[in-house]
Amino acid sequence: MLKLPGLIDPHIHVREPGQTHKEDWDSATQAALAGGVTMILAMPNTKPPIFDNSTLDLALSAAKGKARCDYAQFLGAGPDNADIAASLAPKAAGLKMYLDSTFGELRLDDMTLWTPHFEKFPKDFPIVLHSESRTMAAGILFAAIYDRPVHIAHVSLKEEILLIKAAKEKGIKVTCEVCPHHLFLTLPPPLPSPIFGENGGGLGGGRAEVRPHLATKEDVEALWQNMDVIDCFATDHAPHTLAEKDSENPPPGFPGLETLLPLLLTAVDDGRLTLDDIIQKSVINPRKIFHLPEQPETWIEVDESAEYEIKAENQFTRCGWTPFEGWKVKGKVRKVVLRGKTAFEDGKILAEQGYGRDVRVQEME
Ligand code: NCD
Ligand code: ZN
Repeated sequence: MLKLPGLIDPHIHVREPGQTHKEDWDSATQAALAGGVTMILAMPNTKPPIFDNSTLDLALSAAKGKARCDYAQFLGAGPDNADIAASLAPKAAGLKMYLDSTFGELRLDDMTLWTPHFEKFPKDFPIVLHSESRTMAAGILFAAIYDRPVHIAHVSLKEEILLIKAAKEKGIKVTCEVCPHHLFLTLPPPLPSPIFGENGGGLGGGRAEVRPHLATKEDVEALWQNMDVIDCFATDHAPHTLAEKDSENPPPGFPGLETLLPLLLTAVDDGRLTLDDIIQKSVINPRKIFHLPEQPETWIEVDESAEYEIKAENQFTRCGWTPFEGWKVKGKVRKVVLRGKTAFEDGKILAEQGYGRDVRVQEME
């Protein structure tokens, strides 16, 4: 049995408030625990989006009643909330800025809308950018001009990882995350996956829709080759129901909390990654980048030799599917201990609703 620290996932979509048929604070945190994740940072593209004090309270009060693992909630950057967002910074995971189109209506088209956020959001809290390709280059220029840290969400392209590498070499305060689906899948028609070979077939149509899009083999290889440039693994757990994914107008996004660790451990077994890569990118670096507290008496126990097939029917997420259906993986989460209590064991969630803590609240004990 392998013992690891509880993982931190800095990018997930809980869907509450507003779209709890896809997921809520209960089901999302169950999925997290089953995946060996003991802390999640939740994105603000809910309905309504998390833009101000009252919407932040909506999300945090739902979380307080339902969450089974620890968490923090991101604020969304809007066209006119830079002062409010800055004042709420201590209560939030950070500020998320959508510079490109995706699910939800948070895109900031005009660069004059970016400026107040770069000027006002406290420099010791990260700004996370959804920014692809040239928009990402623009975001990095803003980080340099305003001399403040930015964290680039879900890097997927060769040109992106190479630019981030160059920006880091210049001393620009940029960090980044990569999602498992951009490491293990290519755009349709899917090519043999690194490590998993011919797996990945059958992912077409609406089910393959995700932002950023799945990329080419060359992009995927560039991510693997620049593993040292990647600061964090993040799932971008973005649950939509199977009916929605198979509809005329499929929303983009994949669930990912429960497949993160088995996929990464299989890559370790294959010699592509080390356990230390997982600890650095799923615990140490997210904690440092987002100023997250240590979770005392928290660990996960993993059976490294357990081989099994990923199946949606075994998942706790409400969305009912996974892009990795049928993939053969090696490494199973057996037990999760969160702050001294067994929160998950042998397929059963043991932590109760409300056990999860908001990591931005100082406990007075
Ligand atoms: C995300 C979602 O569904 O909320 N979708 C996605 O494809 N990643 C939005 C996002 O993170 O861009
Ligand atoms: Zn996302």
